[in-house]
Amino acid sequence: MMRKRILVLNGPNLNRLGKREVHIYGQTTLAQIEEDLIQKGKTMGCEVVCRQSNHEGNLIDWIHEVHDNFDAMILNPGAFTHYSYALRDAVASITKPCVEIHLSNIHARESFRKTSVIAPVCIGQICGFGAVGYTLALQAVLEQIKEA
Ligand code: DQA
Repeated sequence: MMRKRILVLNGPNLNRLGKREVHIYGQTTLAQIEEDLIQKGKTMGCEVVCRQSNHEGNLIDWIHEVHDNFDAMILNPGAFTHYSYALRDAVASITKPCVEIHLSNIHARESFRKTSVIAPVCIGQICGFGAVGYTLALQAVLEQIKEA
């Protein structure tokens, strides 16, 4: 059986994790999160590829790539979560499952963060568990595609 390939995409400002509003997002850097996921992926028998961009178009191009080159996607769209119909349409355009992830509990913050325009086209959303949420998302997505 072919090893599953998972794309982990992080959107705007997530390159600043560890420096940015640490009381909300924690001390862990994106590099640490990505390294941990790649290692965990190996122990779970899958290949984890991580990318980050502050630009909507880059994220859209990478989401399109999932259709042909990956089995599933984990996406933290950052603030695009709350208003980017273009990202939502990109996720809807691929046939592979996507898990939405946020470090913070977006439902317990400012009212504009309570809406995700991405969540309806994802298999599920994980939020509020900090960096651990990425591991939970990896477990969830692998469970989803295990028979595929
Ligand atoms: C975030 C939540 C968003 O509201 C915010 O704009 C981010 C980070 C999170 O991971 O908690 O950039 O996606």
